[in-house]
Amino acid sequence: MPHIVVLGAGVIGLSSALWIQAEGHAVTIVARDFPNGSETVDAASQINYTSPWGGAHNRLVPPTTAPEEREHAMSLRTFDHMRAVHKRYPEAGITFMKGIEYLEAPSEAYRALTVEKATKQLKMQGFRLLRNEELPKGVTWGCEYDTWCVNPMVYCSFLLRRFAILGGKVLKREVRDPREIFNWKFEAGPVDTLINASGNGFGDENMFITRGQTCLVANPCPATITRQNADGSWTFSVPRNFDGGTIIGGTKEPNNWDPNPSPQVRETLLRNFAATYPQILGAEGKFTVMKDIVGRRPTRKGGMRLKTESVEGNKCIIHAYGLGGRGYELSWGVADQVAGLLTEHIPPRSSKL
Ligand SMILES: Cc1cc2nc3c(=O)[nH]c(=O)nc-3n(C[C@H](O)[C@H](O)[C@H](O)COP(=O)(O)OP(=O)(O)OC[C@H]3O[C@@H](n4cnc5c(N)ncnc54)[C@H](O)[C@@H]3O)c2cc1C
Ligand SMILES: *[C@@H]1O[C@H](CO)[C@@H](O)[C@H](O)[C@H]1NC(C)=O
Ligand SMILES: *[C@@H]1O[C@H](CO)[C@@H](O)[C@H](O)[C@H]1NC(C)=O
Ligand SMILES: *[C@@H]1O[C@H](CO)[C@@H](O)[C@H](O)[C@H]1NC(C)=O
Repeated sequence: MPHIVVLGAGVIGLSSALWIQAEGHAVTIVARDFPNGSETVDAASQINYTSPWGGAHNRLVPPTTAPEEREHAMSLRTFDHMRAVHKRYPEAGITFMKGIEYLEAPSEAYRALTVEKATKQLKMQGFRLLRNEELPKGVTWGCEYDTWCVNPMVYCSFLLRRFAILGGKVLKREVRDPREIFNWKFEAGPVDTLINASGNGFGDENMFITRGQTCLVANPCPATITRQNADGSWTFSVPRNFDGGTIIGGTKEPNNWDPNPSPQVRETLLRNFAATYPQILGAEGKFTVMKDIVGRRPTRKGGMRLKTESVEGNKCIIHAYGLGGRGYELSWGVADQVAGLLTEHIPPRSSKL
């Protein structure tokens, strides 16, 4: 049986591993970091492992370029698969809810959105434009649609458990160069193909990080709400159901490696979100802060790398990294494409998915 090694146990590695496994291959995941209860994930030593620090919600980004069209298609693929997983495994950490978008200065792509276009062309379910009286002060355009959020570590731990019960193997190791894995000895036999889902990983000079600071609060929130301000800043909430609180965000700071949260930024994030959606403060009229979060989105100049590279001895590496701020949203779309690339190299043995 072909043996595939997936390097990385973030949302991309885990989704890809499950998808490939369902096609009947023996799969081993090798990674330095694995999902863990978010209460115990260590901010200082695991800051380069992005998946615990994501929101993570799915948002409408009206596509205007070919790469955005491709990402939109991947987000729809992910949406459908999330629906199926949620239905079958309610404990997976996925919640379906309304997504609300508020814009102070909408671009043409947003202003051109009609119910017809959003529903028929972009395949958004439950889409509705908000009326003026529904918009917070300063916002000139708004909409809502059906979407999903995950509690990241509940969800990623679920993916890992599914993978293990279906016979997948895991190995906790730090790797210096992914190619060394081809020389390792595994119970499942020599490695035929390596999936490089190492996120911030190493070496690719087009990779950079986009720092994000958010604040986790205990206050519940019934929808995922995103506000884009005229000055380019963002205000958002991402509910993490399954006792995970709510993420209030957030910043997007390319190439900022500061691992420490700024107390001033926390104040600004909370103040701005409360101004947009005061109901979050509840009967007590305040936020209950659990912790500040800093994460590093694995971003890539020119977009994600989803590509096969041949390696000597009829082996190959399939790269699947550089998802930036959209790793969860596009995860099953990436997994599907990784499986497609793998099929060009090794035909599937079954289809249990
Ligand atoms: C504040 C914030 C908010 C976000 N919000 C959202 C959101 O709402 N929706 C959304 O879709 N996305 C969101 N994201 C982005 C999302 O979290 C990332 O795109 C996603 O987690 C990337 O997953 P990954 O699997 O590519 O990488 P990672 O999660 O970083 O996983 C990389 C894996 O590779 C392993 N690895 C790396 N190097 C080595 C090595 N040398 N040896 C062994 N193993 C190695 C790691 O241990 C890890 O297992 C957000 C990110 C941040 C920071
Ligand atoms: C989970 O967290 C605990 C406590 O921090 C740590 O000891 C353990 O190594 C972590 N497990 C994994 C798989 O990272
Ligand atoms: C994160 O990655 C950077 C760049 O590779 C490295 O310098 C740093 O030591 C890493 N941090 C941790 C905590 O592993
Ligand atoms: C694997 O992915 C990382 C990104 O995480 C990249 O920097 C590196 O170049 C890739 N490895 C190989 C062997 O190309």
